[in-house]
Amino acid sequence: MATMPHLQSDYDDNPGRWRTIVSVGKRFAATDVHGPVAERIVAEDLRPVLDVGCGDGRLRARLPSDWPWVGADRSPAMLARAPRPAVMADARSLPFPDESFAAVALLWMLYHLPDPQTAIAEGKRVLRPGGLLIACTNSRHDSPELKHVHDVGPVSFDAEVAPEMVGRHFNEVEVDRWDGPYVHLPDQEAVRDYLVGRFMASEEAEAAAARVETPLDVTKRGVVVYARRLD
Ligand SMILES: C[S@@+](CC[C@H](N)C(=O)[O-])C[C@H]1O[C@@H](n2cnc3c(N)ncnc32)[C@H](O)[C@@H]1O
Repeated sequence: MATMPHLQSDYDDNPGRWRTIVSVGKRFAATDVHGPVAERIVAEDLRPVLDVGCGDGRLRARLPSDWPWVGADRSPAMLARAPRPAVMADARSLPFPDESFAAVALLWMLYHLPDPQTAIAEGKRVLRPGGLLIACTNSRHDSPELKHVHDVGPVSFDAEVAPEMVGRHFNEVEVDRWDGPYVHLPDQEAVRDYLVGRFMASEEAEAAAARVETPLDVTKRGVVVYARRLD
């Protein structure tokens, strides 16, 4: 398989982009994976949880407040805003013993790695037998209504490769896909912010948004992969 580019992890250099993503999600998106993922963790009573690339704790916020959770992230800016406990760590080399967690979440982060396989293997190492690894990402065919102004294209971990990549490490893999008009952008300012969240520079996004008719319903496509460690 050809190596696809990874998305730049810009959380320390450009913290405004992350704030824009979160704000766009809250204002204009009808779905969010963190809720369903947290529900699944609770339904299966998976504790403790390791949240790799935890960011500012969107998964933590959806779990019951006393749920045993540990965050790990390699960005000082994100860690400063993360709930506690959280440690500075790279997903490819986790400072935890083998088989120490019942769930390992890798949400919206494996596309930042040139080698997602290494982080998936490392997630499996720290997972107990019977535990669940959970990863999610967009499709390379996400947001087709904006393809004429911006096309992210294939990346190192997108919905087209995620199930197979995770499946190289796990025998039992369950795939939950979404495909629907889950983002409603009411005006060009909203389009601009949406494009900034998708790695477009502000000025370019402003110019691109001017070429988009609004209001616009954007088709969101992606996948959550649930993988069980059996042995
Ligand atoms: C898009 S954010 C997602 C945050 C969180 N998982 C969520 O769903 O809200 C990606 C996060 O992954 C972190 N990250 C990127 N590469 C990483 C790596 N190699 N090891 C650990 N964290 C990483 C970034 O610092 C950032 O906080």
